[in-house]
Amino acid sequence: MTLQSQFVRDRGWDFAGEDTQYLTHNFHPFPGKFIPQIPKKLMEGLLPEGGSVLDPFCGSGTTLVEANLVGNPCVGVDLNPLFVMVSRAKTTRLAKGEMLYLERWLDQVSEKGGSLYYSGLGTKRVYPSVEQKPDLSGWFSATAIKEIGLIKSEISHLPSDRLKDFCGTALSSILVRVSYQDSDTRYARVEKKLSPTQTMQVFRDKLNDMIDRMRDFSVRASDAKVEVVCHDARSLAEAPELRNRTFDLVITSPPYVNAYDYHKYHRQRMNWLDVDSTPVRTLEIGGHDRYTRKNADPATYVSDLKKCFAETSKLMKQGGRCCVVIGDGIVGGKAVPTHELIVDALWGVGLKFDYGITRKVDSSSKYFRNGARIEAEYIIVTKKP
Ligand SMILES: C[S@@+](CC[C@H](N)C(=O)[O-])C[C@H]1O[C@@H](n2cnc3c(N)ncnc32)[C@H](O)[C@@H]1O
Repeated sequence: MTLQSQFVRDRGWDFAGEDTQYLTHNFHPFPGKFIPQIPKKLMEGLLPEGGSVLDPFCGSGTTLVEANLVGNPCVGVDLNPLFVMVSRAKTTRLAKGEMLYLERWLDQVSEKGGSLYYSGLGTKRVYPSVEQKPDLSGWFSATAIKEIGLIKSEISHLPSDRLKDFCGTALSSILVRVSYQDSDTRYARVEKKLSPTQTMQVFRDKLNDMIDRMRDFSVRASDAKVEVVCHDARSLAEAPELRNRTFDLVITSPPYVNAYDYHKYHRQRMNWLDVDSTPVRTLEIGGHDRYTRKNADPATYVSDLKKCFAETSKLMKQGGRCCVVIGDGIVGGKAVPTHELIVDALWGVGLKFDYGITRKVDSSSKYFRNGARIEAEYIIVTKKP
């Protein structure tokens, strides 16, 4: 039997037309995130009562939100500190008092935003760090820089890390929109007209929407613990937070080869939030810039993922499952059957192929158009014997 024939095309996994943005899932743009229905259905089928979940490439935290909603403890890991913040914001319940506090805080920040244009408050006085970021002016209008700087400064004075993560995520989520960057899937400069106070208004709308969603999430979320760790998945088991721990179920979607450069498309966000993009750029697996080069070799991508799975396997309980969601790619003009290579890599680290599912994806998504015209995605389920 060929490997391909072991993948079952199952329309039950397409979730066509379903809402994928409910509760906190729409907090932050994240091309390449999987739809929440996938981890939810995998957990329903594979997670033992009270079992724990691990996502070694947690990105924007989709798995973590769903694990918490079903009432199970989970740990998410990502290389990028920006996504660690977003994942925390999406999974940390806020108390009623905290949300009321934020609403009042937002009124005050908006008022200060309006007075920026009347009181003569200057960039230097309110946000000195702006001066240290030479490429900001190329990507942001002078008014946007003033307003973002003010918001950033106000966030830094919030009384707790959870509120800082929440408002930092709101700020990060609007930054591409209020910059000259074309979109989350196109790193090119385009002219956009932004009037004074418009950036503040976009932030205000975003934060208000997030507070509304957090009210719903806080009611429906469980007390199960969510931990988010910043670490390179190639040395996952060495992360101090993960040492000597094991998990019942792994659900993850590694970076697709040649599809996206997280460090590049989110660069303006990382700049503003003081995240050093250099280690992220160096350590990110699968990036478009690297694998679009002539003579790029997909073998490096596969061996990187193999290292990650070897580490993941160390953290799995015997009999536990590891579910990987992946799409194929194109490297050096040649199709790469990534899902087959990943089945081999998982097998190579001792995880036995259990079953595979093929699902249809929205191939109009720009995320999927860099490296390939991907129409299908694969869910690989393996078991640790
Ligand atoms: C396809 S995304 C995961 C999306 C996630 N399932 C979600 O729904 O948001 C892949 C993630 O892998 C992360 N990543 C890339 N290289 C990594 C590495 N060496 N170690 C850990 N994470 C890495 C990226 O930062 C990105 O967030």
